[in-house]
This record gives sequence, C-alpha cells and structure tokens, in this order.
Amino acid sequence: MSIISNSIPKAVTLLNQEQIIAIPTETVYGLAGNIYSSRAIESIFTMKQRPFFNPLIVHIKSADVLFEIARDIPEKAALLAKAFWPGPLTLVLKKHITIPDLVTGGKDTVAVRVPNHPVILALLNQLAYPLAAPSANPFGSISPTTAIHVADYFEEVLPMVLDGGACQRGIESTIIGFENGEPILYRMGSLAVEDIEAVVGSVKMITHDDIAPVAPGMLSKHYAPLTTTFLAADVKKKLISIPNQKIGVLVFQKRIEDSNIAQQEVLSPTGNLAEAASQLYAALHRLDNSHLDCIIAERFPDFGLGKTINDRLKRATQK
Ligand code: TXA
Ligand code: MG
Repeated sequence: MSIISNSIPKAVTLLNQEQIIAIPTETVYGLAGNIYSSRAIESIFTMKQRPFFNPLIVHIKSADVLFEIARDIPEKAALLAKAFWPGPLTLVLKKHITIPDLVTGGKDTVAVRVPNHPVILALLNQLAYPLAAPSANPFGSISPTTAIHVADYFEEVLPMVLDGGACQRGIESTIIGFENGEPILYRMGSLAVEDIEAVVGSVKMITHDDIAPVAPGMLSKHYAPLTTTFLAADVKKKLISIPNQKIGVLVFQKRIEDSNIAQQEVLSPTGNLAEAASQLYAALHRLDNSHLDCIIAERFPDFGLGKTINDRLKRATQK
C-alpha cells in the first residue's frame, strides 16, 4: 500500500505520536516532526543521513507566534516577515531559550519561516507545536517536489507522505540572516534577492571564501543528480565535445535540435524564470532516472530566479 495520503487527521495523529511524516510546502516537500520531541527530531536526522550540526528550519503557522521561537528580532527582519510571509523566505534569528539544541545544531540562532501552502497551513493550525522540516531527500540528493519523489526515497521507512500536489515554487526558500541588524544572504532560493532588496535595501552576499559555511545548504556539492552533469553556456558546443554518448539536456526556453540528444527537458517554453524554477528539480529527477551517460544543463540568465537556478545547477555539477 502506498504511503501517500491526503488525510490531515492521520498526519496529526502520527505527529502527535512523535513520528515523522513528509509534508508539502510551496517550495519542496519536507520531512517534518514536532520541534519539542527529541525522538522525532532524531529520526529526521537519521532518516536523512544528515549530520547533527546541520540545523533544521522551524515552520510556524503565522508570524504571530514568532515571539515563541525567536528574540531580539531586527527591524529589517520584521519588515521582511511582513512582506513575504507566508512564503519562501527563511529568517535566521536569535533563538528563544525554549528551542531545543537538536533543532538548531547547538547554535544560538534558529531558522524559521511561515510556509505558503494550504495543506501544511491547515495541518499547522491543528498542532500545538511548530514543525521542524528539512527537505525530504537523503543528504546531498535532489530535493523532492512531488509526493512520488518522496515516496521513491523513503517508501520503506516513512509512515506517510501528506500529498499536496506538485510544489508551486519548486526550489527551497531563500535564507536571510542578520549581522548588526543588516540582512545577509545565506542561501539563494525561490524568493529573488532583488525582491528582498526592494523591501530592505542592499543584502550582503556571503562568498565561498567566508569561514565555514553558515548554512550547510551552501556546501558546494548539494542537490546533485547521480548522473554526471555539466553546466554549459553553449549546449550545442558541449554536445560536440562528447560524442557517442547517451546524453540528456536541460534547457531554459528553446529546444535544441540535435540527433545526439537522448532526452531533453525544456523548463519554460515562454521564457518565464518562475516557471523554470518550479520545473527544475522534477526535470533533474526525470533525467537522473533515465540511465543517461551524462546531462548537459544550460546556464540561465544571471538575474532574479535565474541566479538561484544557476546556483543549484553549479552544485549539481560538482562531484
Ligand atoms: O524551502 C525550504 O526551506 C525547505 C522546506 C521544507 O521548508 N526546507 C529546507 O530545509 O530546505 P533544509 O534543511 O534542506 O535546508 C535548511 C538550511 C540548511 O542549509 C541549514 O544549514 C540552514 O537552513 N540553517 C538552518 N538553521 C540555521 C541557522 N541557525 N543558521 C544558519 N543556517 C541555518
Ligand atoms: Mg535540503
């Protein structure tokens, strides 16, 4: 019997028993558990094979309960919460003393967001606690954007995937931290940096040279297909350089006519970056499941969500 179900009462029962389940959000599916249950949180880390120092995002039902999670909230954080919650923005704030170390990897900060998906919001409204949820994929692999992706990863070990359809955004939330009240980008995501800057002014970028990755989502190899993947400004040229192979191609807008292509994914025929972002992981999943020798991904325009897509593609090409 499939573990996929749309029963919110069943989800509530399992979570109240300190079990973990997969939940839909507008970005990607998450592996969720009660933030106050060490049993649930430990199972999340174990199931994901994720190192304990890599902290989880706390999902709350509305900004009204933020004071239970975080303290000393910078003014610009409050402005961002007001502008973008519910939505694909995670804020890293000083943690409230009651937030367990297990959730924050021992840090004195906590990552928190209000997801924008009717199913998870309905669920959160029936729970007496927030949900900690990393993306519902084994550490380092492609994030899931459908219930089936999650079931393929965790069929044997997970009691339930709460089905909410295909994720509308399709890429993880954008993560913003603060230094002296000023915003810093920890992870590019579904909310374009330009949109954030329109609300709070310039956002500092963290580069790879900065000490140890603040958000391990910034680890260079992440979101990776098992198939060898190349990122190319000119896909046709790259195709010529690898003859006699079964090649998969991922492009933004325009299909490439070439008899050497075994499978092609066009992310948005109309050239819409939001649509392309929403299709990216599903397309990578399909390509990765097609027994190809390699995948060539086209470099995206370097603005807005194109930047986020390029960020994920770069990580997908690192082995
Ligand atoms: O869209 C999303 O954010 C999805 C959905 C399920 O909400 N969740 C997600 O979680 O992407 P995860 O665990 O795959 O990524 C969370 C990222 C990690 O890179 C983690 O290191 C970072 O958030 N993070 C969590 N707490 C942090 C903290 N206190 N300081 C810095 N980074 C933190
Ligand atoms: Mg993840």
